[in-house]
Amino acid sequence: MQFTYSNPATIHFGQGQIAAITSEIPAQSKVLVIYGGGSIKKNGVYDQVSEALKDHTWLDFSGVEPNPTKETLDKAVAIAKQEGIDFILAVGGGSVVDGSKYVAAAAKYDGDGWDILTGKYAIKSALPLGAILTLPATGSESNSAAVITKAETQDKLPFMHPSVRPVFSVLDPDVMKTLPERQLVNGIADAWVHTCEQYITRPTGTMVQDGYAETLLRTLKTLGEQFDDRDNDAWRKNLMFSANQALFGLIGSGVLHDWATHMIGHELTALWNVDHARSLTIIQPSLLRNQIEYKRAKLEQMGRNVFGLADSDDLAERTIDAIEAFYNQLGLETQFTAHGTDKATAINAVIAQLTKHGMTALGENQAITLETSREILENAIA
Ligand code: NZQ
Ligand code: ZN
Repeated sequence: MQFTYSNPATIHFGQGQIAAITSEIPAQSKVLVIYGGGSIKKNGVYDQVSEALKDHTWLDFSGVEPNPTKETLDKAVAIAKQEGIDFILAVGGGSVVDGSKYVAAAAKYDGDGWDILTGKYAIKSALPLGAILTLPATGSESNSAAVITKAETQDKLPFMHPSVRPVFSVLDPDVMKTLPERQLVNGIADAWVHTCEQYITRPTGTMVQDGYAETLLRTLKTLGEQFDDRDNDAWRKNLMFSANQALFGLIGSGVLHDWATHMIGHELTALWNVDHARSLTIIQPSLLRNQIEYKRAKLEQMGRNVFGLADSDDLAERTIDAIEAFYNQLGLETQFTAHGTDKATAINAVIAQLTKHGMTALGENQAITLETSREILENAIA
């Protein structure tokens, strides 16, 4: 355990909290409200934002798509520059929040914002950003990461910088009432895999982080088991807060990280537009089986402490089976079928993308080479 931890992001949690943005956003700011395809216009969130900002100067930008593209976001960057915007308010799911992070940083840079993703430009500063979350899944509302797609070249790449972490976020579970079932399932799966990526590595003796990760996993498992009875405040609150905490930084402090499932999954999204969370449940069981010898001790710990499984020689194998069963119970696929081509062509396409993006030594041991990714894909793709 050797780390520096700081998460200064304020969280306004609970019903009615959207009103908190009135005092959170400096009164003299010129605000750009960024949102997606219009769900916030249908469920009253836009009206609540308008009411809260009635004494502020603001304009809005809509149309940020799921898996946000730089092509769309660059239009918002141009507006932010032309209009002298000095505060950004993201209102949406992870895509809107991530996209707003790109806008916040690119607005302070004279070149092509994509340079942030390639590393050609190192972020120096960003416009301040706040978030009203409408879909609990990514944790983007309280972290400093974003994932942006360049549609032209089918590149989906992450970046991280402390200056794009939202200074505050509003988590009002009531906004979840209009979420389609598909997005609620996605939220459970994404938060689950975020926890796993920071937990299923090798034992590091980090009892606090492990214990909190196991609490999050048990919570998400319970929410999945209660899925048919989800239409209540307690269910919504617990999903919203567990998804936030899964990628808030604490459980990831002083531990090993994996993230290979995410990096391979991003390529399925870039190539075939697979929902982010669904790309993860396709890859993860095959990846865990492939890497089982490195991960055996933590899988056994998870089997005991999350699934309540009895000890046996094959406890790690049974834990992976339990993870897969959990996904299948939620209707999530653990093998990819919708690639529209033959298996070999699909695998080659993913390997070509991983090669192009330098994803050649993934996982907590950097043991997942291109050859290993190919083995994983042999099982993950039908
Ligand atoms: O665009 P609108 O009309 O708002 O509709 C959205 C969108 O179609 C809809 N939605 C959101 N809130 C709603 C709602 N519909 C009804 N009622 C509501 N309250 O849901 C659809 C999906 O939204 P999206 O934001 O794309 O989903 P999600 O939150 O899962 O975000 C996925 C993106 O986040 C990235 C992913 O790669 C992907 O691009 N990630 C970001 C991370 C981070 N910044 O830390 C980590 C994650 O691992 C992930 O990679
Ligand atoms: Zn994720």
